[in-house]
Amino acid sequence: MAEWLYTEYPELYDAIQSEWDYERDVAFVEARLRAAGIEDGHLLEVGCGTGEHTRRLVDLGFDVTALDKHAGMLRVARSKCDATFRQMAMPDLPVGGPYDAAVMLRGVVNHLAPDALEPAVDALADRIAPGGVLVFDNSPLPPAGNDPALDVGTTEEGQYARIAQHVPTDDGRLDWRAVTFTPDGEWFVNSRAMTPFEDATLSGALDLAGFDVAIHDGFGDADERSVFVASL
Ligand SMILES: C[S@@+](CC[C@H](N)C(=O)[O-])C[C@H]1O[C@@H](n2cnc3c(N)ncnc32)[C@H](O)[C@@H]1O
Repeated sequence: MAEWLYTEYPELYDAIQSEWDYERDVAFVEARLRAAGIEDGHLLEVGCGTGEHTRRLVDLGFDVTALDKHAGMLRVARSKCDATFRQMAMPDLPVGGPYDAAVMLRGVVNHLAPDALEPAVDALADRIAPGGVLVFDNSPLPPAGNDPALDVGTTEEGQYARIAQHVPTDDGRLDWRAVTFTPDGEWFVNSRAMTPFEDATLSGALDLAGFDVAIHDGFGDADERSVFVASL
């Protein structure tokens, strides 16, 4: 298992993802939190990555505590905004609380092993205040037999190319395997275990932890993710 994109090449992750519609994701989150009467306050972000959602949430006036499993991602995120950044990996969440709301944006839940789901949801429920809200998405992952896909793009440093494929593994997960050629002439392999959760599995874990759950079709137009808005 080699997770080089997150550990060694967070700047490249940031550049590759720079066209992502972070504004749309955060506008959805803002609307859901405002609808729950949460105007500002303490917000926990799990899996903040390179901080693109984080900085927008800070700009909205939230006091954000942002967590990620990988130090490199946090290093990039830290350079962007004034939030509290901590390195840790769900389901372990030694971060105190309570928080008015929590978010996990862009497939963070799909990085969990199946047996880590309930402990993770329980840990989040423990840290969110009564009346608080949890927002996260379930990313659709390709079925068995998907073809390798080539992605060629340009960053400020130059061109990169990546060939990637999700490969089913014996434990029912998918291994995201990629070979990437970076703009500065390096190359690396990536292997990351992902879990294609059913929406019903996620709803079940949220129910057990005491959340009321609403599932939305994406964060906005042309978004295939299921978005969970779970309230305590
Ligand atoms: C697809 S990235 C999304 C990052 C960011 N939210 C974004 O939209 O750019 C998933 C992130 O989740 C982090 N991550 C994976 N497993 C995690 C865990 N168990 N606890 C906390 N963060 C985790 C990864 O390090 C990575 O930064």
